Amino acid sequence: MKVISISTSIIAIIALAQSTLAATTAAPCDPNTCKLPSCLCPSLTPPNGLQPKDVPQFVTITFDDSVQAELLATAKDLLNVKNPNGCAAKGSWYVSMLYTNFALVQQWYANGNEVAEEIAAARAMLNQYGGVPLGKIKGFRAPFLNYTTDTLREIAKQGFQYDTSSTGVLDDNFWPYTLDNGLANDCWNNLCGSDLKLPGVWEIPMYAVNDNAGTAQLMDVYLSGTPSDVTSWSETNFERHYNGNRSPFGIYVHPTHLTNYPGLADMSSQKAAVVSFIQSLASKPDVWFVTNEQLLQWMQNPVPVSQLASQPYMQCTLPNIGKEICNGLENISIASNVVSGNLLNNCNFNTANWGTCFNCPATEPTLDNPTPNNAVSDTDPKFRHAVPNNCDSLWWDPIAGQCLCSNTTCAYNDTSVPLTTITTNGTTASGPGSTPQQTKAESSAVSGMTTALFGIGLSMGVAAAVMAL
Ligand SMILES: *[C@@H]1O[C@H](CO)[C@@H](O)[C@H](O)[C@H]1NC(C)=O
Ligand SMILES: *[C@@H]1O[C@H](CO)[C@@H](O)[C@H](O)[C@H]1NC(C)=O
Ligand SMILES: *[C@@H]1O[C@H](CO)[C@@H](O)[C@H](O)[C@H]1NC(C)=O
Ligand SMILES: *[C@@H]1O[C@H](CO)[C@@H](O)[C@H](O)[C@H]1NC(C)=O
Ligand SMILES: *[C@@H]1O[C@H](CO)[C@@H](O)[C@H](O)[C@H]1NC(C)=O
Repeated sequence: MKVISISTSIIAIIALAQSTLAATTAAPCDPNTCKLPSCLCPSLTPPNGLQPKDVPQFVTITFDDSVQAELLATAKDLLNVKNPNGCAAKGSWYVSMLYTNFALVQQWYANGNEVAEEIAAARAMLNQYGGVPLGKIKGFRAPFLNYTTDTLREIAKQGFQYDTSSTGVLDDNFWPYTLDNGLANDCWNNLCGSDLKLPGVWEIPMYAVNDNAGTAQLMDVYLSGTPSDVTSWSETNFERHYNGNRSPFGIYVHPTHLTNYPGLADMSSQKAAVVSFIQSLASKPDVWFVTNEQLLQWMQNPVPVSQLASQPYMQCTLPNIGKEICNGLENISIASNVVSGNLLNNCNFNTANWGTCFNCPATEPTLDNPTPNNAVSDTDPKFRHAVPNNCDSLWWDPIAGQCLCSNTTCAYNDTSVPLTTITTNGTTASGPGSTPQQTKAESSAVSGMTTALFGIGLSMGVAAAVMAL
C-alpha cells in the first residue's frame, strides 16, 4: 500500500489498506489469546507444541455428491482398511440431494461415517429421510469449492462446526484452525484479511498434492495421469506430510469417477491404484483414517498418538439391539442400483427414487419445500416416527416410535440450531442463486448422470478443481 497524502480521508485510506491486504495476507492471530479447545491459530506445526513424531498421521478420505448404491460400493472399497485400533477406516461424505438414496445415507451414518453436506437446505432432508440427527451434520463443502466469506457466515449461522472448501498448497498446508481471525487459505482469491471473524468455526483446508509437473492437484487426482504416475507422486506427497509436520493428508473423491458405467471409460485401473495406495498407507505405523469430525475432536484436545486408540471418538462398537428396527444397521439388498429392505419405504418421483426408514413425502421435495407433507397421516398404521431430539437414530425405532437407549452411555441430546427457513434472497453462494435450469445444463453437459436439486451445480467431471499455481 502506498502512503497516501494526509489530505486523503481516513476512510479512503482504510478501505485501500483493506483491499490491498485482502488479496495477499491473512489477519494476524495471537496464540496467547487464541487457545484450544475453542480457538486455534493457523499453523504449519501440530497443535499444543506436540512434536510431529508424536502425532497421528491423519488421512481423511472424503466423498462428494449423491449417495447411491454403486457409489457407496466404490466408497466402501476405498475405505476397506483398518485403523491401528482395529476399527474400520471412516470417511466423510458431502452429500447432495438429487439421486441420493436416504436409506444408504442412514446406513453410512449408522456405521460411524460422517454425513456432512454441500447445501444448507439439505439439512432438513438428511434429517427427515436419512434420520441423521441435525447435530451430527457438522460440515460443509461448497459445490465447485466455490465459496465466499458470505458462504462461511451463512454456515456459521446455521450452526455448522466446520467448512472444508479451501485449498492448502505447501506453504499454507495449515493444520485445521478456527476462523476467529478469518481465513488463512485461498488468500490469492481475496478471501483473507477481510472482516470475516467466525469464532469457534473451524476451517479444514483441503490439502493439495503436487503432480510431476509441480501443479497442485486437489480432487480426483487419479484423473491427472496414468495410474502408476499418480500413485508415484501421491506417495511423494504423502511422505512429505508423514516425514514432515504431519499435517493431515486428504484423498478427495467424486465416487462417480471411480465407478464404471456402460458407455463411459472403464475406471477399474484408476480405482485399483487408489485402493492400493490407500492400503499402502494403512500399513504404516501411526496412520489413522478418520472423518473430518474425528479430526476436529482430536484438534480440540490433541493427545499423543499413543493415546489415540482409547479416545471415545475412535471407538467402533455398534448397538446390539438384537432385531431389525430400521436404524441403518438392518439388512438391505442392493441389486441394479435399487435398494430394498423389509422395513424400508420406497419413495418414487419423477427425478428421485429412494428408500427410507421414515415417511415418504407426498410430493417431490423442492428448494422451497425440501420436506413436504408426509404421504401417510400420523394415524395410518404405516406411519413412521421421526427421530426426536433426545435419541440418536442408531437407537431409534421409527416404526414403534421408541428410543431403545436406556442409559447414559448411549444417551443423546441434540442441541443444534433448529431447521431454519432457507434464505432465498441470494445472500449466500451456497443458496439458490443459480436457477435449476442452469444447473441441469451444467451437469448434463458433463455426463448426463446427475443434476442437482435446489439449483446447486454439481461437479461431475468439471469439478476436478485443479488449481494451477
Ligand atoms: C441379516 O441377515 C442375515 C442372513 O440373512 C442374518 O443372519 C442376520 O441375523 C440378519 N441381521 C439382522 C440384524 O437381522
Ligand atoms: C446401555 O443400554 C443399551 C441398550 O439399552 C445396552 O445395550 C448397553 O449395554 C447399556 N450399557 C450399559 C453400560 O449399561
Ligand atoms: C439438552 O441440552 C440442553 C442445552 O444444554 C439442556 O437445556 C436440556 O436440559 C438438555 N435436555 C436433556 C433431556 O438433557
Ligand atoms: C437476505 O437474507 C439475509 C440473511 O437472512 C438478511 O440478513 C437480509 O436482510 C436479506 N436481504 C433482503 C434484501 O431480504
Ligand atoms: C461461483 O459463484 C459465483 C457467485 O458467487 C458465480 O458467479 C460463479 O459462476 C460460480 N462459479 C462456478 C464455477 O460455479
